[in-house]
Amino acid sequence: MRIAVLNGPNLNLLGTREPEVYGRATLGEVEQQVRAEAASLGVELTWLQTNHEGAFVEAVQGLRGQADGAIVNAAAFTHTSLAIRDAFLAVKTPFIEVHLSNIFAREPERRHSRLADLALGIIAGFGPVGYVLGLRALVAKLRGG
Ligand code: DQA
Repeated sequence: MRIAVLNGPNLNLLGTREPEVYGRATLGEVEQQVRAEAASLGVELTWLQTNHEGAFVEAVQGLRGQADGAIVNAAAFTHTSLAIRDAFLAVKTPFIEVHLSNIFAREPERRHSRLADLALGIIAGFGPVGYVLGLRALVAKLRGG
């Protein structure tokens, strides 16, 4: 089973970016945790971070035939991007939406996701462990659990 993890803008700054909101783990550390979980679940993992909406759209388009499912933290694009929504509608790859922070407890403009109704589910507010939980949930779902 092949799982893709897609990370959106500013997540490359994790560790130093608003640590009171996003914690002190770097994106590399989050990736290590997720890769360890992927290894124990016996799934292949690809990992991407981009600050560019077009690159994110192309990554979603590229999921077709390349990944069985995805873990998606589209960061600020979550709240704004019809283009990314359209890409998920086109490829129909199952995904779980993950946010480090609880977007529903934040500013009004963060409380709406343009992807959420397309996702198998959402995990928000648990920091890096949300990625690990998301991976477990996604793999269980894809394996028929
Ligand atoms: C985020 C929440 C978004 O609102 C924000 O723009 C981010 C990170 C999160 O993981 O909590 O960049 O997706």
